[in-house]
Amino acid sequence: MIRLLPDRIINQIAAGEVIERPASAIKELVENAIDAGANQIDISLADGGRTLIAVDDNGAGMNADHLRLSVERHATSKLNTDDIMEIHYLGFRGEALPSIGSVSAMTITSRDPADDNGWTLHVDYGQVGEVAPSSRQKGTRVMVEHLFANVPARLKFLKTDRTETAQIIDMTRRISMAHPDIGFTVTDNGRQSMVLVARQTSDHQNHQNNQLDNQRARIRDAMGAEFADEALALDAKRDAMTLTGLAGLPTFNKPTAAGIHLYVNGRAIRDKTLIGTVRAAYADTLPRGRYPVVVLFLNVPSEDVDVNVHPAKAEVRFQDAGIIRSLVINALRAAIDSDFRTSGQLGQTALGMASHQQYGRGSYSGGSYGGGRPAYRGGGSSYGASPDWQNPAHYNETLPISDMPPQARLADDQHHIHAQDQAPDHVTTDTSNADDITTDYPLGAAKAQLHKTYIVAETKDGMVIIDQHAAHERLVLERMKAQRDQAGGIERQALLIPEVIEPGAAAVMVLLDHAEMLAGLGLVIESFGDGAILVREMPAILGQTNIQQLVKDTAEELLEHDNSQSLEARMDHVLATMSCYGSVRAGRPLNAAEMNALLREMEDTPRSGQCNHGRPTFVTLSLADVEKLFGRR
Ligand SMILES: Nc1ncnc2c1ncn2[C@@H]1O[C@H](COP(=O)(O)OP(=O)(O)OP(=O)(O)O)[C@@H](O)[C@H]1O
Ligand SMILES: [Mg+2]
Repeated sequence: MIRLLPDRIINQIAAGEVIERPASAIKELVENAIDAGANQIDISLADGGRTLIAVDDNGAGMNADHLRLSVERHATSKLNTDDIMEIHYLGFRGEALPSIGSVSAMTITSRDPADDNGWTLHVDYGQVGEVAPSSRQKGTRVMVEHLFANVPARLKFLKTDRTETAQIIDMTRRISMAHPDIGFTVTDNGRQSMVLVARQTSDHQNHQNNQLDNQRARIRDAMGAEFADEALALDAKRDAMTLTGLAGLPTFNKPTAAGIHLYVNGRAIRDKTLIGTVRAAYADTLPRGRYPVVVLFLNVPSEDVDVNVHPAKAEVRFQDAGIIRSLVINALRAAIDSDFRTSGQLGQTALGMASHQQYGRGSYSGGSYGGGRPAYRGGGSSYGASPDWQNPAHYNETLPISDMPPQARLADDQHHIHAQDQAPDHVTTDTSNADDITTDYPLGAAKAQLHKTYIVAETKDGMVIIDQHAAHERLVLERMKAQRDQAGGIERQALLIPEVIEPGAAAVMVLLDHAEMLAGLGLVIESFGDGAILVREMPAILGQTNIQQLVKDTAEELLEHDNSQSLEARMDHVLATMSCYGSVRAGRPLNAAEMNALLREMEDTPRSGQCNHGRPTFVTLSLADVEKLFGRR
């Protein structure tokens, strides 16, 4: 027997798609308030949203007829034409309120200012009541009680109250970033847990700038100063498309994609392809498995994007995904290349760890001591926990320092120094001619080399610790990239005696498959009988190096990425691997002139804030923070 389903069931099915948890109900209600033109939205909840969710707005409100219709399925005021591509509101399906009403006790109270009085309507698990007068003065309040009480399966699926509350706050934060002109509050069990003040666009003369300022201010309020103050501003255009927002420094990275916030025409979306695009833009500046933090606002003509592809509108489909990809990649790359800084969080983390060690780990929360820096307060952020690059095991695994030949030397001949490492093992303080170097440089004046590995420099208002190997590795990589992009390509040097290498059958195959590409990168190889290859020429910039290991590593790199990446991405990976071999290794003494030359080159080299593996090349400690460490502040 086939029968038409009753409305109640249909609404519950729709709710199953769209209302997954309290946070998704909040999303729908907040979006309705935004569509109604509100500039203040107040959210309250109890018990993680399980017993109560209420969203109060000061928007346009509804009269009695409008209110009655609002809980009918497929009733919407937001599609003015019959063209589904003409979408100018966040809502358009006309399903959210009936869906929520089918799985909760929902009360809507609203007033259209043109009407004599306000009205209220109750829906009890799909049973719609009568519209009755109310004393409400302005806007709309939707109260949702005991969500999912009639859907035990959903109820069981909910997490702890704390997790659900966190999801609600996160959802609100996410939506709020696209609407700096709207104020938001979240009150949890009677306690105000989030307040975002509305930013007004008052200055009409400079409307555009003002909007970007407001946007940035809201991102700062929502995401925190640690991210926003050092993030790179984006403002790109292509045809009728614009891209604005903030891109985090590569060294401000996270273990998941949760910090990637994407908006299309003011709508928060999750899009795997776009996330992939963002990661590709950060490619060789991030450690493996780490994600950048970005807030991207993409605006495109409504006919160029289909938002009707996902019930919760969390995904979109672009008419021309290629154009979007290049817009995003170019804007992000330009931003990343414009700056060599590393995240100030690194210094915060270092000092946080130092003070923890000093007083015993976890003996105080840091909240009162660290000047309210959430970076290491209770280890809450990813920087409180140790990221991959702080893990010594990981370090050794990706950076084969021990495999490097003892005669590895600086590639630039003018940097050439005594090959023999005779210096004492701890500190070089040859500052005789370093005193002329002013501390005005961003990376300051080199003062000492510690453990033949770290350079310590003095800056105007603090100090910088540089990992000489990591830094030089990046400089060699960027020099090689620059050479590659020039007419002559990467400069090659013929070996006096060609080197025979037997890296194993699979490696030989993949190397020979890429022989042409490798030649373009300065590595000229040819087949040499069974299971062996001959290396005839090397990139000149690498100097004398461990050719055997370099070729084996290159083969491994190619094997790992053979099918999964574009040729261009593979080339970048190979370059990154090769440039490790031309780098001044850890454990080599440098004099003051050499150290300062390294710092100046870093300042002039894009991406020099992180090595080829994405680890930071330097950490900045501000004097103020060091003073705090010693209780001087
Ligand atoms: N806070 C509000 N203020 C004023 N009108 C509202 C409010 N919330 C809902 N409405 C009205 O009720 C209608 C139905 O809302 P509902 O959320 O169910 O559908 P929608 O927003 O049109 O589409 P979608 O299902 O995609 O959200 C809206 O079109 C709008 O006219
Ligand atoms: Mg809606």
